[in-house]
Amino acid sequence: MSKLFESEIKSNVEVAPSVFKLEVDAPEIAATAKAGQFVQIKLPSSEFTLRRPFGIASTINGVKIFYRVVGRGTEFLSTLKAGSSLNLLAPLGNGFSMNASSKVLLVGGGMGLAPLLSVAEKLREVEILIGGRNRDEVTFWIKEFSHLPSIDIIFVTTDDGSYRYGRKGFATDYLPEILSADKYSAVYTCGPDIMMYGTALEAIANGLHCEICFERRMACGLGACLSCSIDTINGRKKVCKDGPVFDAREFIFNT
Ligand SMILES: Cc1cc2nc3c(=O)[nH]c(=O)nc-3n(C[C@H](O)[C@H](O)[C@H](O)COP(=O)(O)OP(=O)(O)OC[C@H]3O[C@@H](n4cnc5c(N)ncnc54)[C@H](O)[C@@H]3O)c2cc1C
Ligand code: FES
Repeated sequence: MSKLFESEIKSNVEVAPSVFKLEVDAPEIAATAKAGQFVQIKLPSSEFTLRRPFGIASTINGVKIFYRVVGRGTEFLSTLKAGSSLNLLAPLGNGFSMNASSKVLLVGGGMGLAPLLSVAEKLREVEILIGGRNRDEVTFWIKEFSHLPSIDIIFVTTDDGSYRYGRKGFATDYLPEILSADKYSAVYTCGPDIMMYGTALEAIANGLHCEICFERRMACGLGACLSCSIDTINGRKKVCKDGPVFDAREFIFNT
């Protein structure tokens, strides 16, 4: 069940151009949050009435969030220093099922890698395909994932080929080859819609269970305003309350 917390910022540092890693002291959230759940942050300024949603990236030694500065709220968040207090509503949403029988392949891009980091912390055996525009976008993620005991292999693609240990192109270009190894029991994906849809269709074509973690514009974050609805084969669903994680077979790909 979600609750309000007043939590102290432990650190808030830029890890790549315009991307910050925020660590907050929130032991109760760390103890209860499931991989794929998110927090709604109330920014400490009367300028911001709506909370901002962020995926929980890690619950080891505090709660960690990775965010990109895209507008006024995240710009303001980036100015907050260690010792400041943040009001958090958490944990929200359903999270990944985490019941795969053997190795899971994670496929993520951009800030969508945040919830997948939490999955890799909690599962025993995973491999990950990281996609990004360029080297700056993937390097800090590789560092974060590489020290986790569950990680066997990290596959990397960059659109411009600037990460020299990875491939040039999109993650979805590399995916069919990775899946042909036939060693995964499920695929979990989070990132740009086009990446998730391509990943889900490929996973389903390979007979694999696939879960998609959606990001939609949100207002209330609690299922009351309908601003985050998506169409599924079971009718309209709210990403904040029924998701953000959905079985890929439930989603209607032409919406
Ligand atoms: C469940 C969920 C989890 C999220 N997790 C993360 C995360 O881990 N890291 C992260 O950096 N961001 C995440 N986001 C997106 C994040 O909430 C927005 O980037 C943030 O609220 C923008 O606030 P702002 O005031 O800076 O931007 P605003 O001034 O409100 O908007 C500026 C621009 O940002 C973009 N934007 C705003 N909200 C969203 C959104 N929900 N999705 C996509 N683009 C948006 C739009 O292009 C908009 O024009 C998540 C969103 C959801 C719904
Ligand atoms: S954000 Fe209000 S219903 Fe989802």
